[in-house]
Amino acid sequence: MTEKEIKDLLIEGFAREFGDSEGIRLFFAPGRVNLIGEHTDYNAGHVFPCALTIGTYAAVRRRDDRQIRFISLNFEGSRRDSSLDDLTPSNEAGWTNYPKGVVWAFEKRGIKFETGFDMVIYGNIPNGSGLSSSASLEVLTGFMLKNLYNLEVTNTDLAVIGQYSENNFNGCNCGIMDQFASAMGKENNAIFLDTSDLSFEYAPIVLDKAKIVVTNTNKKHKLTDSQYNARRSACEQALTELQTVCDIKGLGELSIEEFEAHKDAIKDEDRRRKAKHAVYENQRTIKAVKALKEGNLEEFGKLMNQSHVSLRDDYDVTGIELDTLAEKAWEIDGVIGSRMTGGGFGGCTVSIVKDEAIEKFKEEVGKEYRNKIGYDCTFYTVSIGSGPREL
Ligand code: GLA
Repeated sequence: MTEKEIKDLLIEGFAREFGDSEGIRLFFAPGRVNLIGEHTDYNAGHVFPCALTIGTYAAVRRRDDRQIRFISLNFEGSRRDSSLDDLTPSNEAGWTNYPKGVVWAFEKRGIKFETGFDMVIYGNIPNGSGLSSSASLEVLTGFMLKNLYNLEVTNTDLAVIGQYSENNFNGCNCGIMDQFASAMGKENNAIFLDTSDLSFEYAPIVLDKAKIVVTNTNKKHKLTDSQYNARRSACEQALTELQTVCDIKGLGELSIEEFEAHKDAIKDEDRRRKAKHAVYENQRTIKAVKALKEGNLEEFGKLMNQSHVSLRDDYDVTGIELDTLAEKAWEIDGVIGSRMTGGGFGGCTVSIVKDEAIEKFKEEVGKEYRNKIGYDCTFYTVSIGSGPREL
């Protein structure tokens, strides 16, 4: 669907659901793909994501009373009506726990809303693909509130508010990467973010005759259901053990040499491997961005591949679906690099593929996946877009 078609769909949907579309405003916030730096964002490490041109759209209008009403045009039975006086998470609220959580998080910061709103959303990120549909919905909600209620918040604040709501309202202990990428995205650039202090720089992604291809395992994953929070706890415990021998606030502060010198402080072998991933992946991300800046895409690709191996062997978050996609991709000439992206346990891989190899890549990876896994994967050639905007 084109953006014009999505706009029309939202306007019609709003009128159908809420009477008329008089005075509505339209907003968008993007999803993201992470190029390298996985499971480092809750370890005070670096990440290197970029915003996508796909994301979540909304049509909204303020109300005079305290109701907040939501509907998603992506699926049947999605309508939920609630109130500013009922900002607590619940099973019945379903998907609306995300926008409600953001309203709640603003209120926690002392920004109170007197009156509510009606909100119609439509997203074009494949559901459950790990391309951050929930973060885009959080950032979208924050951006819409900022504009509708004239709030003094920066886009970085919107990322922090989104993460806070996800951690404390929706129960997923995620890091800041997804919300930050959605809120701060810049066309044709990836964001080299230091999650220890949120300092960042944009790095242009200029691919000479190559594209970013995202491949969806079509295996549904949900971070709250998965072992995401368990990984995070393992890292926190490893950090506590390391703090008995080094003066650090996060695993990301350690160089590889320092980690190797002190790793025996981590008593459990499995936990040591998890911490190893966090430290090595952080250093790999720093190296990868340096290589990219020097125009060495080959090196960047190799580091992407190493990232996948580490996520597979040390961090244990890949699984047969993601491994099949990445391992097959590595065999194909013209694939510069390929790795899982996002939380893992399903979701997508991200690959940088030379233009002339894209067809072959799709054919061979697709065939291998179908043979081994029994159903199809899906390919998307993605473009790097900007952060949230009003349409
Ligand atoms: C999910 C989380 C992020 C990050 C990635 C792994 O996408 O939401 O905060 O931890 O997993 O890198």
